[in-house]
Amino acid sequence: MIDSSLKKYCLIFLMLNLCGYIFYCFRKIYASPRGLAISQPKIAAAGLDLLLALSYILKMNRDLKTIDGFGEEWEKFDQSALDSKEHHLLFEKYFSIFPWHLLPQDAVGFDLGCGSGRWAQLVAPRVKKLYCIDPAEKALKVAKKSLSHHKNVEFCLASVDDFPLSPNSMNFGYSLGVLHHIPDTLEGLKSCVEKLKPGAPFLVYLYYALDNRPWWFRLLFKTSNLLRLLFSHLPQAFKGPLCQAIALFIYFPLARTAYRAEKIGLNVHHFPLTFYRDKSFYVMQTDALDRFGTRLEKRFTRQQIQILLEQAGLEKITFKESEPFWCAVGFKKAIFI
Ligand SMILES: C[S@@+](CC[C@H](N)C(=O)[O-])C[C@H]1O[C@@H](n2cnc3c(N)ncnc32)[C@H](O)[C@@H]1O
Repeated sequence: MIDSSLKKYCLIFLMLNLCGYIFYCFRKIYASPRGLAISQPKIAAAGLDLLLALSYILKMNRDLKTIDGFGEEWEKFDQSALDSKEHHLLFEKYFSIFPWHLLPQDAVGFDLGCGSGRWAQLVAPRVKKLYCIDPAEKALKVAKKSLSHHKNVEFCLASVDDFPLSPNSMNFGYSLGVLHHIPDTLEGLKSCVEKLKPGAPFLVYLYYALDNRPWWFRLLFKTSNLLRLLFSHLPQAFKGPLCQAIALFIYFPLARTAYRAEKIGLNVHHFPLTFYRDKSFYVMQTDALDRFGTRLEKRFTRQQIQILLEQAGLEKITFKESEPFWCAVGFKKAIFI
């Protein structure tokens, strides 16, 4: 396994080093009659360390608390109880626009933010090699277990800002439900696109801004978002049960009502949580925790996603016209400057 935690240790080392230098400088300044003059080289070295540490911190495109939360989520819902038929149906909902037929026989690609590895399980048999990348140690542990019989999968404990694949080396990539949980989505997309060979496809799913919904739907969402802001900041011991209560008392009844309404011929397109009408309670439990337990979440309109993907260096972008919104695929421009 490629482990990027080395960088974390370097950062800690730099910080300790810096503290040591600051302590040293203060001692010199106050102990020496010549004061600052004698300490200048050490001060300069400390300044350099500070700059290095700061530039590393500023470059980090990750939210550590959000990542921790996901580790807990995948540990609790490792997807082992997901019914195989439902697993395949869900997979198709995201991957139906993916151009499998354009991949070479010996395709090598990556799953950025693989979580439990639920999509990788169905991608791995179709490709030569798949890199599963996630910065949450607990999530990667779950992914390793669920993918243990796939010998063509390599795991990588890393974030989108430092995953160690060479530029222009991948035949494909995908990142589902990840890049709206990081501080800078455009930078995250750019990091992914950088790893692709020119012309290679990249599939992405980013939360939608409910741009294709009526005003009252958006109002409902804004109200429910207050709960997310509250719940996601609670300790896991409270967050987990509260999100499960939401799955039981909100997701389940609404989803099953939408199911029945559809059965009697009503249009349920704008019915809240209609996506879950034919999903199991397990999927609702997973998604309720994902939706209400996550601190950092961003939403984008279809137009914003189009622009982001173009700015990241993709072209020939296609959107999936049905839920989950918005799922899109694009190809790395042959010449991207
Ligand atoms: C909603 S989950 C989606 C998991 C998986 N893609 C799926 O659809 O089942 C988001 C995942 O993104 C990962 N993640 C969060 N921040 C990340 C970052 N900076 N770089 C890469 N992955 C990140 C989390 O650890 C988590 O496993």
